[in-house]
Amino acid sequence: MSQKSHGLLQGKKGIIFGPLDDKSIAWHIALAAFREGAQFALSNVKVAFRLGTIAQLGKLCGDAPLVACDASSSEDIATAFNEVKEKFGKIDFIVHSIGMSKNIRKDRPYDDLNYDWYHETLDVSAMSLHRIVAGALKAEALNDGGSIVALSYIGAQRTFSSYSDMGDAKALLESIARSFGYRLGQRGIRLNTVSQSPTKTTAGSGIEGFDALYDFAEKISPLGNATAEDCADYVVTLLSDLTRKVTMQNLFHDGGFSTMGTSDRLLEALYGQKQ
Ligand SMILES: NC(=O)c1ccc[n+]([C@@H]2O[C@H](COP(=O)([O-])OP(=O)(O)OC[C@H]3O[C@@H](n4cnc5c(N)ncnc54)[C@H](O)[C@@H]3O)[C@@H](O)[C@H]2O)c1
Repeated sequence: MSQKSHGLLQGKKGIIFGPLDDKSIAWHIALAAFREGAQFALSNVKVAFRLGTIAQLGKLCGDAPLVACDASSSEDIATAFNEVKEKFGKIDFIVHSIGMSKNIRKDRPYDDLNYDWYHETLDVSAMSLHRIVAGALKAEALNDGGSIVALSYIGAQRTFSSYSDMGDAKALLESIARSFGYRLGQRGIRLNTVSQSPTKTTAGSGIEGFDALYDFAEKISPLGNATAEDCADYVVTLLSDLTRKVTMQNLFHDGGFSTMGTSDRLLEALYGQKQ
């Protein structure tokens, strides 16, 4: 991660949903946003405050307030935005870095999903973006000209055999970013998704065969996989005014993976030296 501040978020206020521990993408986004001069609240489900190390992150980010919120509950979201408004007044940015699939966690194959869990996957990992944006608007918590970023994965466009119902959730998430992005445009508010490389985090490592998926992407991507720190540096540019005309996009942040077919590195690993 860049050590140097560019002051990109000087004077900006926001909320970051999803830091759990120091592997989390949201953890690094928080550190980068703080480095760039932002003030923000950190949010997660109550249980994550016990399991994770979010309080430590709060300290590293200028005693950032911690806000408990289950992103599948409109009530929790309303309370969270009221708390944030009390603390900061209106805010300029929201980061949605939330994902969860019980079907993946409990190894249910895609052709035999548990539908209650499937519903939960879509609710927590995708509809929560709608709830959060709608909640921020209802609470009148968002400034005109603000920016919202949600984390996605290329499993939204392509089939990755072990990504299961999360592929469906990411497709919905990216669609919500387009549909809501259109409506937010009138107020100059941007909404984008960042499609990140496989990253070694708690959610990432829960996917069966994650190490192979990570290694495959690493071998194909000309720049190599993007780390959580790299992702954080990219996300702060999207939260800044420098990207004020970018909206309703799914932006690949993946070292070039999404444009590749094969690479020499992958072919050599599979078939030995070039013929
Ligand atoms: N790790 C990867 O390989 C990878 C790749 C591309 C995109 N992403 C996406 O990045 C985002 C962050 O994931 P991560 O990899 O940093 O893992 P992570 O496990 O550190 O973060 C996921 C977060 O979601 C939170 N969460 C789960 N249920 C919630 C709920 N009901 N309400 C509020 N928060 C809830 C968890 O507590 C956790 O903090 C996710 O959207 C994930 O799909 C991850």
